[in-house]
Amino acid sequence: MAKDKIITGIDIGSTKISTTIASVSENKISVIGVSGNVESKGIKKGNVVDIDAAVEAILSSLERAERMAGVSVSSVFITVNGSHIETLNSHGVVAVSPTQSSEITQEDVARVVEAAQAVSIPSTREIIHVIPRDFIVDSQDGIKDPVGMSGVRLEVETNIIHGSSTAIRNLVKCVTQAGVDVEEMVYTGIASAEAVLTDTEKELGTLLVDIGGGTTSIVAFLEGSPVYSCVLPIGGKLISQDLAIGLRARLEDAEKIKIKLSNDAALKMIDPSKKSDEFDVSEFGLEVDSISKNLLYKIIDARLEEIFRLIALEISKVNLTGKLPAGVVVTGGGALTSGVERMAKYTLKVPTRIGVPKGVTGLIDEIQSPGSSAVVGTILYGSNLIRSGSLLSFENNKGNMKKSISKIIEKFKSFLP
Ligand SMILES: Nc1ncnc2c1ncn2[C@@H]1O[C@H](COP(=O)(O)OP(=O)(O)OP(=O)(O)O)[C@@H](O)[C@H]1O
Ligand SMILES: [Mg+2]
Repeated sequence: MAKDKIITGIDIGSTKISTTIASVSENKISVIGVSGNVESKGIKKGNVVDIDAAVEAILSSLERAERMAGVSVSSVFITVNGSHIETLNSHGVVAVSPTQSSEITQEDVARVVEAAQAVSIPSTREIIHVIPRDFIVDSQDGIKDPVGMSGVRLEVETNIIHGSSTAIRNLVKCVTQAGVDVEEMVYTGIASAEAVLTDTEKELGTLLVDIGGGTTSIVAFLEGSPVYSCVLPIGGKLISQDLAIGLRARLEDAEKIKIKLSNDAALKMIDPSKKSDEFDVSEFGLEVDSISKNLLYKIIDARLEEIFRLIALEISKVNLTGKLPAGVVVTGGGALTSGVERMAKYTLKVPTRIGVPKGVTGLIDEIQSPGSSAVVGTILYGSNLIRSGSLLSFENNKGNMKKSISKIIEKFKSFLP
């Protein structure tokens, strides 16, 4: 029987560092260790700003998950985030290598995807993902996997996600200094999409929005694949700051009030439509014991509206307005903000839902929250890579995958349906 493989994902966020360890077999991903949300240090708006502090936080998160799982980890999948992330769509074309059967091989596919990467990306940038969106064989488009088809000319449309080499190098440095190798990096938006979007949503056209503490990462999907990504340097922390200013409270208290409001709303202890009700804040030691909910929602809604307006602007800049009929899926810790669904619907005028991570079993209680989408996504991403490309990792003896197949195939095959 194939041996299970241990996969570790670390989401290096601006607010929290969370690690998840899973045991992956050919048909099941079982979470065996989680760190919970360890407070992030040395990371601001997705970027490393203090290596020593970040290393300590990463190590502490990793060790917690290792202790729970009872394993020692040597390599990890990590998220990469920050407004340095950019995207472009690129086309590649090659002649199919002549063979007896004139069938397209995996090597041809690797060559065409490599050809699509031959775009002018400055040396200060590093490619994070090359995602084939569509293959074209002798002018016939809409092909998801051309291997085995007959043809002489192979083309591909890809979406390339790239980031600042310096930012990426510093991130990798922190992880290696924490004593583990980086197996692969996954852009936070792609990781969260893996965990929360359905195939139908990706196919119809949908916008994934991950609202974190310091950033909001977005990815637009069309016909099953990402077409546009960007990271806005704004997030849930700004909502807490607004509340702190508006209520003349300390930032920590404002954060707690925000979370209490959303928790109470989730438990239906308050009705957001009855905005005149008073909200009890007596436990926070403010000058007052209660605050009008009307005021709280005014402050929160204003910031949420700004976040969604900026998202709308990004989407219109790339002509995607009205082209994403499955609407918006909001995830990340910020998706728990009271009223987020209502404000997304009101501002973007599309169907909206809150995305909670799916696709794993085992110790899921701690990760069944929008804030864990990215970390669960890294596990799903890693599992897809192993299942599609290097089945060798499962010690399977079917022998249908050769070690010699270039890494590029492993990477992009994880995106195929
Ligand atoms: N119950 C809640 N109600 C409202 N906001 C919440 C709740 N829980 C968490 N948040 C907010 O979510 C934000 C953190 O989200 P998340 O954990 O996804 O961030 P992160 O991944 O560390 O940051 P980033 O992705 O920006 O680097 C914080 O601003 C926090 O206040
Ligand atoms: Mg995040």
